[in-house]
Amino acid sequence: MHIIITGASRGIGYELAKFFAKQAENKILLLSRNVDRLQELSANSPHANIDWLAYDLTRAEEAKLLEKIKPWNHIDILVNNAGQLLSKPFTELTRHDWESIFTTNLFGVVDLVRLLLPKLEAANHGHVLNIGSMGGFQGSSKFPGLSAYSASKAALANLTECLAEEYKEKGPAFNCLSLGAVQTEMLAEAFPGYEAPVGSQDMGAFIAWFATNGHRFFNGKILPVSISTP
Ligand SMILES: NC(=O)c1ccc[n+]([C@@H]2O[C@H](COP(=O)([O-])OP(=O)(O)OC[C@H]3O[C@@H](n4cnc5c(N)ncnc54)[C@H](OP(=O)(O)O)[C@@H]3O)[C@@H](O)[C@H]2O)c1
Repeated sequence: MHIIITGASRGIGYELAKFFAKQAENKILLLSRNVDRLQELSANSPHANIDWLAYDLTRAEEAKLLEKIKPWNHIDILVNNAGQLLSKPFTELTRHDWESIFTTNLFGVVDLVRLLLPKLEAANHGHVLNIGSMGGFQGSSKFPGLSAYSASKAALANLTECLAEEYKEKGPAFNCLSLGAVQTEMLAEAFPGYEAPVGSQDMGAFIAWFATNGHRFFNGKILPVSISTP
């Protein structure tokens, strides 16, 4: 399979990349702004099946991505995993803060999907998997300070439903996993001192399974993946 993962430099995305890389027949392209760990993963990959690209979702860096995937005539899986968290009381959030969070968590996904759609449509059964959050899941517990982040994830969930409908005839499937707490640097920033019941390795393995198989059972679905609050 041809697989693209955003936000692979740490946390869940990094573990997800390692999981996919275990299968020699997968070809994986990893994107994030910091690339040291991507380079290292690629160099140590026993199957030489990992490529990487320094890519900032908040900038239009489309030409270099298109150049990178030129040899691929299709993309089987796109995991929109990159995310930005900001924990700040609502009255202290500036317009710039809101724009920054939405640019990474929503517009970055919009731009990437638009750019990659032709190759996703060329796959037999492509799958776009958006990584949302319980914070953006309707009716879930909400937490002070996370309004911009949670609203951006709610918008991402809704986008998933809309794109699944718009491309249901010939496009890839679109699903959104709304994650609960997973032990990563982002969680430590959002909930200092809290210990999550799930580690990034386990979540990476689950997401790899879902990205590979979920489109056979779900399309346009927003699925909570959580055993705790937060
Ligand atoms: N951990 C949790 O408890 C939890 C709960 C619910 C949802 N989630 C979601 O799960 C996903 C992964 O979370 P995580 O906990 O693994 O977070 P993390 O450790 O903070 O990692 C976030 C990743 O996103 C990348 N990223 C951020 N801004 C970017 C940008 N502008 N362009 C490209 N890449 C960017 C970062 O790479 P660079 O900085 O190198 O660019 C990093 O690799 C996120 O979407 C998050 O919202 C996590």
